[in-house]
Amino acid sequence: MGNQLRRAGITGVASYVPEKILTNQDLEKMVDTDDEWIKSRTGIEERRIAAEDTATSDLAYRAAEAALEEADLAAEELDLIIVATVTPDMVFPATACLVQDRLGAEKAAAFDLQAGCSGFVYALATATQFVKAGAYDNVLVIGAETLSKITNWEDRNTCILFGDGAGAAVVQVVESGGILANVLGADGSGGELLKVPAGGSRQPTTIETVQNELHYMQMEGNQVFKFAVRIMGKSALKSIEKAGLQREDIDFFIPHQANTRIINAAAKRLKLSEEQVFVNLDKYGNTSAASIPIALAEAVEAGRINKGDNIVLVGFGAGLTWAASTIEWI
Ligand code: UT7
Repeated sequence: MGNQLRRAGITGVASYVPEKILTNQDLEKMVDTDDEWIKSRTGIEERRIAAEDTATSDLAYRAAEAALEEADLAAEELDLIIVATVTPDMVFPATACLVQDRLGAEKAAAFDLQAGCSGFVYALATATQFVKAGAYDNVLVIGAETLSKITNWEDRNTCILFGDGAGAAVVQVVESGGILANVLGADGSGGELLKVPAGGSRQPTTIETVQNELHYMQMEGNQVFKFAVRIMGKSALKSIEKAGLQREDIDFFIPHQANTRIINAAAKRLKLSEEQVFVNLDKYGNTSAASIPIALAEAVEAGRINKGDNIVLVGFGAGLTWAASTIEWI
């Protein structure tokens, strides 16, 4: 087979979330909020929170092990590991290297990719290129986050939204179908809308940055909301078109799990019925780069995606960034 003909597809997908559950009722005791507001404005009912001694690589490793099992692939066979995250264990080394070591994936290259909540789809698109080009046969793509570690638990604008978790997918050469098209985008002019101001080279950590709580995530929710509603449908449609398909050809939709109102607006634009859209943010909240692979793994496990189905994954987030993939499930 010539390299031009190589196709990439997802051959195994799995997720892992920490055990501890934080409910809306728990949050009512922490900040001035209520269950009804959170449910009606976001759709979230509870989220998972990693234990104090648990880091992003721990969640990533568990999801990765399970995805390799689903794909029936040994870690030693992996050529590349990409971890999409905004909450790496450390600034460096890359979380992907920590996962590589724990998996014993000796021949795999490893790097992290940071594209906010679009990170998993960005990483999936990156893996697709390596596989299609013939550079690699077996790539592990992980979206993993411990957002609870960068959440200001006194800020009701953000602390009700986020949760921890990980999802992983094995991308391999496939004979037909697979990942048909990827669309990636960014608008850095919106970078201010969602950020962790301190701890990088612009504002290194000092006693003052910590006292001023600049090591926590900050968000202009309303602005991000408007952007998300606009970009979700638009980027999904672009990837469907790029795949040579029509809106009517799409069987199932896996949107980034940030807010049911955003998801519903995108579903409406794509003319999809409720049964065609996967929603699990009631259980997990927004898990950033982990949200799409967790949703994908749960949808597959629940039998909602079958061989031959055309599915669309769409994410948006910090950067600002957006990303969509159209996939014929194999
Ligand atoms: O993955 C990408 C990351 N980000 C997102 O996806 C976030 C996108 N944005 C959103 O989901 C929504 O903008 C939010 C859920 C964050 C907020 O919903 P909203 O409808 O945009 O509300 P708002 O920010 O316009 O606030 C409405 C009111 C405000 O009160 P006033 O100023 O009208 O008196 C807020 O102070 O709701 C108040 N409010 C709250 N009330 C109870 C804000 N947070 C809370 C809260 N509980 N937790």
